[in-house]
Amino acid sequence: MSRLIVNGGNPLNGSIRANGAKNSILPILAATIINGGENIIHNCPDLKDVHSAIAILRHLGCRVEYSGGTIVVDSAGMDRWDIPDDLMREMRSSVIFLGPILARCGKARMTYPGGCELGPRPIDLHLDALSKLGVHIQEEGGEITCECGPLQGRQINLSLPSVGATENIMLCATACQGTTRIVNAAREPEIWDLQQFLQKAGAQVQGAGQHDITIQGGVPTRQPTEHSVIPDRIESATYLCACAAAGGEICVQQTIPAHFAAVTELLAESGCQIQVGGQEVRLRAPGRLHSVRPVRTMPYPGFPTDAQSPLMATLCLAQGTTMFSENIFESRYRHCAELCRMGADIRVEGRVALVTGVDHLTGASVKATDLRGGAAMVVAALAAQSASEITQIDHIDRGYDHIERAFAALGADIKRQA
Ligand code: EPZ
Repeated sequence: MSRLIVNGGNPLNGSIRANGAKNSILPILAATIINGGENIIHNCPDLKDVHSAIAILRHLGCRVEYSGGTIVVDSAGMDRWDIPDDLMREMRSSVIFLGPILARCGKARMTYPGGCELGPRPIDLHLDALSKLGVHIQEEGGEITCECGPLQGRQINLSLPSVGATENIMLCATACQGTTRIVNAAREPEIWDLQQFLQKAGAQVQGAGQHDITIQGGVPTRQPTEHSVIPDRIESATYLCACAAAGGEICVQQTIPAHFAAVTELLAESGCQIQVGGQEVRLRAPGRLHSVRPVRTMPYPGFPTDAQSPLMATLCLAQGTTMFSENIFESRYRHCAELCRMGADIRVEGRVALVTGVDHLTGASVKATDLRGGAAMVVAALAAQSASEITQIDHIDRGYDHIERAFAALGADIKRQA
């Protein structure tokens, strides 16, 4: 199993470009099923989850080529409507394929996506919404089998603004007769990006980024559909958290600052100097960070749960105590014990974590507990005063394209060891 070796203490300096957003690419790759033609997706980094999605598309009979950051999917040859367990387990968010498979084939079969490092990952909102659109769902032995006659659009009220459920409803509703309206839809930028792709494919989708989204049924037909995904806001935030922790001055380029303003605001409050340009954010770290107001994770545009662990790693070095409240996932504090191995002072009580800053962190052998927890370990190791080893980094590779290369380019002493 490969691992990262980090000799901490180097301040970070220079510029880094944000890659395309993982959480845009995945639903957009699923959406390529719908139009039964050629789709060209640009700005796609080399991520484990992207390869998992490509494996599912190829299993379904689609032709997929991936080179130089561009993925070409021709879904004309799709001849299957099932996803086997091994592919479902590769990536928890594979459930996003359910809506588009139903839209294209009128039936679908897949296993229940397992829980993950963040706790149980229920899909009740997805299934409840799809059944309201006319999908007959059978759940037995961990397998979900769906059949549907003509799908009928209608209003769907989401009890919580689930990102995945919003996406699945959008994708399935393209094949409904009439209009579907999603009330209390997720408003994440990746939802807007999916809408952009669907509109380019010829679908009638409006309202993404707002409270309600409306989809006028009618299978998209425009081919080829070409799209470039938006920059990754969590990757951008991760780089800034690392610089705040390790010191120095960096500029994240080709990003969309508004998409992670909730993070940069807290970094500014902790003492960092932040300059926001059109497509870039510059951060200069202070001599000593200080604690900030309570960090409560919320649906977009609130503070993103995916940035909770990287920011926590940063604030382990801030003077004073910061309270975190993780309101999105049931157990998203597994990285805390690993941070404490490096000398952090963190006390967890249920959904609350109290982080009291220490003068320094000490390098240690730690593991990536999940994707963003792994990113937090990199942030902490870069700031630590000695060497660290980070294992189980396949978690990190799910959402960061060779994270060590990005930080090495900014002056960090970080290497991957096979
Ligand atoms: C998406 O996951 C992202 N993944 C996650 O990013 C992100 O943390 C999450 O949205 C929240 O922003 C992708 O886009 C691929 P949800 P998703 O449905 O769709 C509960 C990363 O690190 N819920 O908005 O699974 C659920 O348990 C990943 O890049 C139900 O109860 O998130 C959670 O507590 C991690 N029933 C909350 O809602 C459901 O049917 C938010 O989940 C669905 C969700």
